[in-house]
Amino acid sequence: MKIPELFPLLFGAPWRWLRLVGAVATAAWVVVGCGPTGGATGDTIPVGEFASLTGSEAAFGRSSHNGTVLAIDEINAAGGVLGKKLVLVTEDNQSKEGESQTAVKKLISRDKVVAVLGEVASGRSIEAAQTCQKYRVPQVSPSSTNPKVTEQGDCIFRVCFIDPFQGTVMAKFAAGTLKARKVGLLVDVGAPYSVGLATFFKEGFVAGGGTIVAEQKFTKDDKDFKAQLTAIKAAGPDAIFVPAYYGQVTLIVMQARELGITVPFIGGDGWEAPELLKGPGAKEALEGCYFSTHFSPDQATPKSRDFVAKYAARHGAKPDAMAALGYDSAQLLADAMRRAGSADPAKVRDALAATRDFDGVTGRMTLDASRNARKSAVILAIQKGEFVYKETVNP
Ligand code: PHE
Repeated sequence: MKIPELFPLLFGAPWRWLRLVGAVATAAWVVVGCGPTGGATGDTIPVGEFASLTGSEAAFGRSSHNGTVLAIDEINAAGGVLGKKLVLVTEDNQSKEGESQTAVKKLISRDKVVAVLGEVASGRSIEAAQTCQKYRVPQVSPSSTNPKVTEQGDCIFRVCFIDPFQGTVMAKFAAGTLKARKVGLLVDVGAPYSVGLATFFKEGFVAGGGTIVAEQKFTKDDKDFKAQLTAIKAAGPDAIFVPAYYGQVTLIVMQARELGITVPFIGGDGWEAPELLKGPGAKEALEGCYFSTHFSPDQATPKSRDFVAKYAARHGAKPDAMAALGYDSAQLLADAMRRAGSADPAKVRDALAATRDFDGVTGRMTLDASRNARKSAVILAIQKGEFVYKETVNP
């Protein structure tokens, strides 16, 4: 490779550094004698992470990664786990389909990680879970909420609630607080997260006596939603539920306002990124809208306050749900290794499965028989261009 070609590689994309640093650390670790049988046989414990550090959901991946890194550094500063330091090896899947499986295969076969942390988006967690399950390497997803993630097998865990709960939370909010009787749905049919959350919302809303008056579809690369929005407008809904990721939500709501749709839009955790409110007119369009998520920096538990301060000192920003869950995923993994008295993947798996009342920055959680966290959700309102804490909903 010529020097000019090397330049953009090294200096153009900061996230590439991570891979490089990870690879160098791993190479050093292999050289110091862990070798192909690997695992935690040296004086470090390799932990894998796959994340969308670039591409369409980069805001998710970076945030989650920042939280994970903060936890790993804290654990190491306090002496590590079982007398060993954790080494985080991170792979970027570029928010692309197919890349998560490749990333996780590398982490398992090349880096000999004892466990894998990731991802935010359910579709990519499901992809990776198939590989983690095959090799029986425990995976802890920080924030993928679709039920299918942990259904991939007994090695797959998460530190977040699942969408049957999240869907019900928003269905009750729409009927109770917004007094909506008729709701329109706009669903990303290519994302398991979107399809699942729409279904669970619908079940909850209909069970509570409400009616779904319109149901429209889109896919990941769509940028023009006017046809779908016009059809929804004609059905006269009191609110519109859009269980999608932030990038498209902003476009959808702005186009809706142009079409004269004034009712509130509501959504789930996929809305949560500062990018949701960026760009001319975005804040105004989303004023008075609501979404459910996992965490708010305004929640007043001592543990979450302490985390908000540490995160701000390290990353110069307020943490969001992905950051808090990324942090909890790494802390839970370390806790499971301590309880197992071992970093052996099989023993760590058993300890993860036995997690009861773990005290995370996102709240107390117990992993149920399906390896999903039982815990509360929060609802945030968009007011004057900010995410404002509204309420906590217990399961
Ligand atoms: N829950 C979403 C999914 O499963 C991802 C997400 C989590 C987005 C938290 C934002 C905040 O795909």
